[in-house]
Amino acid sequence: MRIDIITLFPDMVQVPLGQSMIGRAQEKNLVNIQVHQLRDWAEGKWQVVDDTVYGGGQGMLLQCEPLFNAVADLKSKNETSSDSYVVLMTPQGRVFKQQIAVDLGKHEHLIIICGHYEGVDYRVVEELVDLELSIGDYVLTNGAIAATVIVDAVVRLLPEVLGNEQSSVEESFSNPGLLEAPAYTKPAIFRGLEVPSVLLSGDHAKISAWRKEQAVKRTKKNRPDLTQD
Ligand code: ADE
Repeated sequence: MRIDIITLFPDMVQVPLGQSMIGRAQEKNLVNIQVHQLRDWAEGKWQVVDDTVYGGGQGMLLQCEPLFNAVADLKSKNETSSDSYVVLMTPQGRVFKQQIAVDLGKHEHLIIICGHYEGVDYRVVEELVDLELSIGDYVLTNGAIAATVIVDAVVRLLPEVLGNEQSSVEESFSNPGLLEAPAYTKPAIFRGLEVPSVLLSGDHAKISAWRKEQAVKRTKKNRPDLTQD
């Protein structure tokens, strides 16, 4: 899979995605992530990429020209461009969920545009963008961190990216409607705080029942919106 990210702040994306499992996935060529400076597609001495809003209103919008040129270039450079899927990071988008990460992982080529200022000229959305995506109901200064979140969630699901130490099979959100049960590690007693004895019992049926019960309890407490009752 290849992922091209277009942003005014490449370091905000490049540095975090160079770490840990996503960094190792790139070293192992399991994914090819390229981060691009939008200004590289802007004309003129000052490489301006934004302008004021028609009809009035605050702030500046990213203009069509650099984004149209960037997307056309990146599509043409990719051999599998027939499956280039273009995502725009914006607080006006659909809210990101695990299932969207699964679906995005099926594409051979993602192009992710990071919005900035008050947004982008809407002709970009109409002509270039397949999916407008938000990471939640809050406004960030730009889409770079949001794009980083998306790429992390997508890439960790790709084959061979997660080592044996971590599994994406039995986790919250792969199991819609239920969060994961609490988990503990050594020591069994820390400052008088004991690990629930059932987890030390070796009785797998009992452990499994306890985890199910705790998962329901935790979901009701932290995410009542996920439970039906
Ligand atoms: N840009 C600014 N805020 C955002 C958000 N919540 N999600 C995606 N992109 C954004």
